[in-house]
Amino acid sequence: MTEHRVDDLAAFPADFLWGVATSAYQIEGAAGDEGRAPSIWDTFCRTPGKVANGDTGDVACDHYHRWREDIALMRELGVTAYRFSVAWPRVVPLGDGRVNRAGLDFYDRLVDALLEVGVTPFPTLYHWDLPQALQDRGGWPSRDTAERFGEYAAVVAGALGDRVRDWATLNEPLCSAWIGHLQGDMAPGLTDLTAAVRASYHLHLGHGRAVAAIRAAAPEARVGIVNNLSPCEPATDREADRAAAVRADGHGNRWWLDPLHGRGYPQDMVELYGVELPTRTGDLAAIAAPLDWLGLNYYFRTVVADDPTGAPPYARQVYLPGVPRTAMDWEVHPGGLETMLMRLTEEYGARRILVTENGSAYPDTVGPDDQVDDPERAAYLSAHLAACARAVRRGAPLAGYFAWSLLDNFEWAYGYEKRFGLVHVDYGTQRRTVKASGRRYAETVAAHQRRAQRVLR
Ligand code: IFM
Repeated sequence: MTEHRVDDLAAFPADFLWGVATSAYQIEGAAGDEGRAPSIWDTFCRTPGKVANGDTGDVACDHYHRWREDIALMRELGVTAYRFSVAWPRVVPLGDGRVNRAGLDFYDRLVDALLEVGVTPFPTLYHWDLPQALQDRGGWPSRDTAERFGEYAAVVAGALGDRVRDWATLNEPLCSAWIGHLQGDMAPGLTDLTAAVRASYHLHLGHGRAVAAIRAAAPEARVGIVNNLSPCEPATDREADRAAAVRADGHGNRWWLDPLHGRGYPQDMVELYGVELPTRTGDLAAIAAPLDWLGLNYYFRTVVADDPTGAPPYARQVYLPGVPRTAMDWEVHPGGLETMLMRLTEEYGARRILVTENGSAYPDTVGPDDQVDDPERAAYLSAHLAACARAVRRGAPLAGYFAWSLLDNFEWAYGYEKRFGLVHVDYGTQRRTVKASGRRYAETVAAHQRRAQRVLR
């Protein structure tokens, strides 16, 4: 990818949020500290063959103990917002309503410290770490988990809602449902279509319950949800491949957006899955509660071909020759971010959008000069910010961008092999080193802020 800088910072509004994102299990470590109980990821990591090198989140980036240092890094980067997740198994360890005050206090201190230095906290209530005790009672395929999620949301919003304005309910429910229950590559590791469809439904219902609970506890709250979305394109012009792209879009995008927008679940996909939805009166209205913002996690474009013998949605990923890819094997395709921003704007009528994650993995090393030179990540970042600027020029109500991730961290089934951070972490020593891409991001943020100050004066 060619090296370039974002040349249209003027496109972004003066109050644009410049953020970084992380999640609890990926960075906190301290897995057994102060009353935290196991989550489904602790279990999954201990299931042989599921996570590369047998890695676990037991220590991760030790953020639970080093959070002050990590806030200092945010200040060094000059970011104005921080998206993190609250660990359900710290706050309501058994998922049964009994609150672990020590767990809640951790987030209380974190929020205070962020506000003190002018960084807006953006907590996400669920980033995949379901208390194992709830999994043992049926997990997301069971309706009870949605109700328990609403109760947990009330606890967190009750504790932090006097200071936190911006809340996300779920992170990437697609991954929880499809990758966790259909593909089996994430916790809880099931390969069961019925369980997956039921999980998707109860994740949405839990989201609806959480929206109501947050608003009840904090009437000023601005509530959203974070979806990972990707434009789906056919590998060829063949009719079968074009139909596969429509199915892939249904599976990856429409299934996750339509119910939130009062459109119900897409009928073509309901028929394709052939699984009865566990709908009860009032559910669809709860799921479609109006939101204050939509979070978009964007990483890559999806190119597919027909795959009649595969798993739903019967579309297989195709790697087009000559397209650059990251260490995850994901296509580098900034235009897809613009496409999805415009789709949320034009097709779904979004009134406020946040890019809640965007970033890339490359195999970084700290050089003898103590520098981490990562030109590919810097170029990825600039090219995607340029795509954001184009979308804003076309009318997308984009209010902020969160780089994934502040730190290198535990990349789920890939363990510590894949590095997404703007800051390098040496897992042996826990030493943090800001990468060249991190410095590039800091320059972009600072340049925009200088411009914004001129505009506001
Ligand atoms: O690390 C993940 C994150 O937890 C959710 N979104 C995608 C990231 C990169 O895979």
